[in-house]
Amino acid sequence: MTSIECLPGGTVGGSIRVPGDKSISHRSIILSSIAQGTSHISGFLQGEDSLNTLKAFQSMGVSIEREGTRVIVHGVGLHGLNKPDKSLDMGNSGTAMRLLLGLLAGQSFDSTLVGDKSLSQRPMKRVIEPLQAMGARIESQFGYTAPLNVSGMSKLNAINYPTPMASAQVKSCLLLAALYAEGESVIVEPAVTRDHTERMLRGFGCQVISHDRQVRIQGHQQLSATEIEVPADISSAAFFLVAASIATRTELTLEHVGVNPTRTGVIDILRLMGADITLLNQRDIGGEPVADIRVRSASLQGIHIPEELVPLAIDEFPVIFIAAACAQGETLLSGAGELRVKESDRIEVMAQGLSALGVQLEPRPDGIKIFGGPMAGGVINSHGDHRIAMAFSIASIAASESIRIEDCANVDTSFPGFVDLAAGAGIKISIHA
Ligand code: S3P
Repeated sequence: MTSIECLPGGTVGGSIRVPGDKSISHRSIILSSIAQGTSHISGFLQGEDSLNTLKAFQSMGVSIEREGTRVIVHGVGLHGLNKPDKSLDMGNSGTAMRLLLGLLAGQSFDSTLVGDKSLSQRPMKRVIEPLQAMGARIESQFGYTAPLNVSGMSKLNAINYPTPMASAQVKSCLLLAALYAEGESVIVEPAVTRDHTERMLRGFGCQVISHDRQVRIQGHQQLSATEIEVPADISSAAFFLVAASIATRTELTLEHVGVNPTRTGVIDILRLMGADITLLNQRDIGGEPVADIRVRSASLQGIHIPEELVPLAIDEFPVIFIAAACAQGETLLSGAGELRVKESDRIEVMAQGLSALGVQLEPRPDGIKIFGGPMAGGVINSHGDHRIAMAFSIASIAASESIRIEDCANVDTSFPGFVDLAAGAGIKISIHA
């Protein structure tokens, strides 16, 4: 089983570029595939999650050429996908499974979605129920979890749906299904979540009206091919934002990072803790804001994390917990129950790992209280969760002894090359098969 070994005393400095944004990479393949014409994508994330999405569309008859991070997709139009020969394997990716479910619900052919052990345990009721309300036929042998069988449909009905949880995956699933529905669909979220689907649909020429927490879309709109430049993933950059903050006397620049305001909660939270983070060269690339991010070491303070920032930083909490463990005083997170249904139960798995390093904490159903203080070394089980493995690699900068992290192969789902990039920046890290 793959493990990561980190020695204490590492740092990070210089200038680095992390791989492409995972959320945008998934969406670039999905929307280019159902567009008319040939789309060109650059900066595509070559991680297992987004590659599974790419393979799924190839097996539905879309011709896709890829050379590293450059992808050319020959779109087949809204109704041009073919029935796949076998089940579509979404691996570890909740985004791929939930977004594809919405798209497949509107196809005329039957299909089956499967995933790995972690994905097969993740909740799908949140997407199955509203899709069924639109008229979709979806069955699962085990209640509301994968494998999921989708029956071909001739038409879906539009939906007016308040999503019970703040989830961009649920919103995006319904937006994709809504493209195949009669009339206008309206989705209202309890809190604003990442809006990459809405922005990219507009880039493909669709009309999508967003106002505050509400999104409206008319069915049967045709998408026209376009060019997409995927920025570096702020969720991957987040590991280095924390690394540079907790290291001593250093400065690091992260290049060309996507800074869409629905994703920058991690910057806001770290700044509230006292981090020294500056956005440089802010620009707009294909409808998504991008910047270089400069981070300098800082002395971090514990805070009560504002609940409105939780959906805007939902994937970054594993490494934010490391920042909290290195801060002076207590950090309190609440309103983050969604962390329990990610690739692992991230509250439980982080609590176990931090406790193994001697950090004092109190887990709660919807969050955690972490008491900042010294960190020892130890052995961590990442439970196959990529972000847990990377978060504890960053902890080694502040730990007094070495940290071994087990079950790390899934780092490749979102951040291929993490170990080499981290080692090059100054972290004392190595990988062992
Ligand atoms: C994502 C949305 C978030 C996030 C996930 C990617 C997306 O999930 O955790 O990693 O690309 O839409 P939820 O929508 O379930 O919060």
